[in-house]
Amino acid sequence: MSDGPLLVTCGLPYTNGPCHLGHLRTYVPADFYVRFLRRRGEEVLFVCGSDNHGTPIVVMAEDQGVTPRDLSNRYHEHFAHIFSRMGIRFDHFGMTDGETNHRRTRSIVNALKEKGYIYSKVVEQSFCPKCKRFLPDRYVEGICPYCDTPARGDECDQGCGRHLEPGEIKKPRCLVCGTDAELREQEHFFFRLSEFGGFLESYLPALQGTANARNYALGWVKEGLRDWCITRTLDWGVKFPGHDDLVVYVWVDAPIGYISFTEEWARARGLDWKRYWCGKNRVTHFIGSDIIYHHCIFWPALLTGAGYTPPLAVVASGMVKIDDQKFSKSRGYVVWTGEDYLDKGLPPDYLRYYLLSYTNHTKELNFSWQVFSERVNNELVSTLGNFIYRSLFFAHKFFGKVPEGPVGAATSEAIGCCIREMDRSVREFEFKGAIDAMMALAAYGNTYIQNQAPWKLIKTDKTAAERVVKDCLQIAHALALLMEPVLPDAAGRVWRMLGNTDVVETHPVSDAAVQIPSVELPEPSPLFEKLEDSRIRELEKILKGRTEKAKMAAKEKDLVSIEEFSRMDLRVGKILSAEPVKGSKKLLKLTVDIGDERRTVVAGMAEFYRPEEMTGLSVIMVTNMKPAKIFGVESQGMVLAAGEEASILVPQKEVPPGTKIR
Ligand code: MSP
Ligand code: ZN
Repeated sequence: MSDGPLLVTCGLPYTNGPCHLGHLRTYVPADFYVRFLRRRGEEVLFVCGSDNHGTPIVVMAEDQGVTPRDLSNRYHEHFAHIFSRMGIRFDHFGMTDGETNHRRTRSIVNALKEKGYIYSKVVEQSFCPKCKRFLPDRYVEGICPYCDTPARGDECDQGCGRHLEPGEIKKPRCLVCGTDAELREQEHFFFRLSEFGGFLESYLPALQGTANARNYALGWVKEGLRDWCITRTLDWGVKFPGHDDLVVYVWVDAPIGYISFTEEWARARGLDWKRYWCGKNRVTHFIGSDIIYHHCIFWPALLTGAGYTPPLAVVASGMVKIDDQKFSKSRGYVVWTGEDYLDKGLPPDYLRYYLLSYTNHTKELNFSWQVFSERVNNELVSTLGNFIYRSLFFAHKFFGKVPEGPVGAATSEAIGCCIREMDRSVREFEFKGAIDAMMALAAYGNTYIQNQAPWKLIKTDKTAAERVVKDCLQIAHALALLMEPVLPDAAGRVWRMLGNTDVVETHPVSDAAVQIPSVELPEPSPLFEKLEDSRIRELEKILKGRTEKAKMAAKEKDLVSIEEFSRMDLRVGKILSAEPVKGSKKLLKLTVDIGDERRTVVAGMAEFYRPEEMTGLSVIMVTNMKPAKIFGVESQGMVLAAGEEASILVPQKEVPPGTKIR
């Protein structure tokens, strides 16, 4: 095409864990898109790779006692293998830790430096006083400053989804040892993202792909952009040029991987990667909606700043949920592609179909084994598989070959209509619409064969029966060609059962409308197997077991050990005096004898006790609380009381002040 080649990429999987169904929502639709457009005659290059850097990998490697490189190699292979089993076929699957990416990243960072888009600044960073190290990104946990939800160092993953800058998170704690982090000063490097607001305001409205990506990104630009800290104190990563103690933030070198992988692919073939990236490019990124910010704000700004062309399109899927719960490995809401699906012998085609057809691409997609089996049984088995098998069965039984003679006009019209509808939907990233159109053709065929009943017709009017079977086989032929991008395995089988000896994918989609020749037909076999209830119950049980186990673990986490309890220094104290706190109606200032010393305690009890009632009482006190200043008075402990009216806890028998509670 005169437009130049299309480059399709997928969000790069982190090499810190196995592939799950959430990941597949990026890869399966992209693979479908690429297969379909190739068979519409487009020149498409499809690249991806694994994302090896960043703290998710370092934290997991540390956890498992292996090096980040070993961990990355292991999961890189894992993803490559899963993709091949799922029929997801990248032209190249690289690694961000590869030499090409190190080089390309340094070159882009240097270009940004030269153009004045990078500056250094001393900033406060979370530091763990116990581990004695800075805590980049996922090494720190705390509270999101925007929405008050528990968050990771660099992202509010459970709340508002915002990217968080180093030092921004509230109540930071060290992920490794749980110690409260301190803030310490350190020199870091910043990218002048704030200067790209104008560029993004004109770029984003023209960005192709799905509207959610554009709209979210425009909203963020309107909120105002802040500069990005692009260096981290880590060993693992791409060294920041000129500073060997720093690496670039993973979100710098990860998207640059898209370019590097194109380079690697092109170099191996003696081709020029610039053809895909430079000038008026057709770069199309498939991602999940969790990383829109990085792809629609940060990445186009980075590219433009360094003198490259920003991408043409961003296609962002809605997130996958499991049993209507947000995906969560720690809570057990996860279905692993290998262990839970492929290794159980379930067909890749079924999952591809489900992921593409269940909801619109930009909507959230819920996965449950129940719905999965219903879709497979009602649609793939009862509609698509049933129609194709019946057609082939009668054709083989009555004629042994594809009957001679013309294809009916209504049949040709239905096929033509389906091709047009699928094409339009795919180009609008309406994958569900495309599959719906294909299934509508199968349903049309089913109704047709049922109404015409060739098994009856054959007894009275052989020519009429021939015509009906011919129509049905033409529809089956069209379906084989049209289903290949979503159901590659089944398409191949239908193709062979139609008497073909070549490969279905070598045919353009438009061949669906070309009349089939009268070839011999082999004996057909059913296309899809029904998923039995008992099988589904087993799969549900595995998932249930995982979430239950996670719940137990969470409960366990809430339990207090005897060691934790004994960290509290609870003692009997005798109230020596009580007086109101100036300026407060609720507070009393108490002086308490705890044996070897006297403590001042501010207690919210003025509404329930008169000062003279309290004097002389023996009470229970927490004596090792962090002191706090309340209304100008330093409170050095807490007196225990129960309920709304602050009923003070007292020892039942007389014990001297200072007696430890055990
Ligand atoms: N490494 C980054 C992407 C860097 S791209 C330059 C990352 N990795 S990931 O392993 O977490 O996710 C890989 C892809 O899967 C991303 O496109 C992400 O959006 C997608 N998904 C991961 N979990 C998902 C769901 N639960 N639902 C839908 N897509 C999700 O992000
Ligand atoms: Zn938040």
